[in-house]
Amino acid sequence: MRRIGVLTSGGDAPGMNAAIRAVVRKGIYEGLEVFGIEHGYAGLIRGEFQPLDRRSVADIIHRGGTILFTARSEAFKSPEGQAEAVAQLRRHEVEGLVVIGGDGSFRGAMALEEHGVPTVGVPGTIDNDLAGTDTTIGFDTSVNTAIQAIDRIRDTATAHERTFVVEVMGRNSGFIALMAGLADGAESILVPEEPVDLETVCERVRAAYRSGKRHSIIVVAEGAARGFEVAQKIQEKTGLDTRVTVLGHIQRGGPPTAMDRLLASQLGAAAVDALLQGRRGCMAGLVHGEIRFTPYEQALAERKDIDRETYRLAAILAI
Ligand code: ADP
Ligand code: F6P
Repeated sequence: MRRIGVLTSGGDAPGMNAAIRAVVRKGIYEGLEVFGIEHGYAGLIRGEFQPLDRRSVADIIHRGGTILFTARSEAFKSPEGQAEAVAQLRRHEVEGLVVIGGDGSFRGAMALEEHGVPTVGVPGTIDNDLAGTDTTIGFDTSVNTAIQAIDRIRDTATAHERTFVVEVMGRNSGFIALMAGLADGAESILVPEEPVDLETVCERVRAAYRSGKRHSIIVVAEGAARGFEVAQKIQEKTGLDTRVTVLGHIQRGGPPTAMDRLLASQLGAAAVDALLQGRRGCMAGLVHGEIRFTPYEQALAERKDIDRETYRLAAILAI
């Protein structure tokens, strides 16, 4: 293998640039030519290939976003779009591809594999919803961004002795909500993996004030409920002054944490090694400190579950 490509796809995540840097530098170290493909699969279909050298990825390890941009491409879900993408890879004599993205992007990589293109996935998504790796690139940064925001909300919630509902991202998973809620001492955490019981939430809010608490914070995963609806229900049932903050896309930006930079560097380099060793159709991951490669089918089939002990601990520590 002499030429490989790398692209970022789907929702961007802090640390993607560190992963791109690792793919490029490791590839060059191994004597390969490395091409960046801009705008994900949409750019692959359009032939947006850029040769990358060591300097191309200078001064990006600390930057959020992705220098290769990202995109979502419905065209790539069609056989015609996939055929054009494969033709572009052949035209540029790119023999293997590193796909940095989430579960959707790996479904796209599977389609390329069916057309004979060797690919290795690097899990880049803040959702942390992929089996085969303890955490995904961007997750740690998004949790830290969330708790910095919730710390600020706690100040004003205490000043006004108010109840705040904070909605976080995570698509259909509750990892961000659970970890940010635990790290910030939320009174209740609503995740899609557990039934939403607003009666209990309201009871916990009432009990919090009865016990002398000056505020209540409820962290809601977007896949569990809408923050505005939860806040309205609390206000109606308890009569307590309640406000809502939807953190939204601030969770997707900002400088990646050290952990995400290290994870991205290790997995980006591991993906290059895998391609050189003929290992393909799999996602690189870090499990208990060990690099592991999981076939896409397995990584996508297993629903990564939140840790129930952690979920119970969060409730205990919020009494
Ligand atoms: P993420 O990788 O963050 O989960 P998406 O789910 O938006 O992001 O998927 C990113 C892109 O991957 C899509 O825009 C599409 O181009 C491609 N993709 C997703 N699912 C499939 C599929 N089943 N077959 C082919 N391509 C897919
Ligand atoms: O998958 C990452 C993610 O941030 C999800 O947590 C969120 O629901 C979604 O992307 C938002 O998608 P978009 O960037 O298209 O608004």
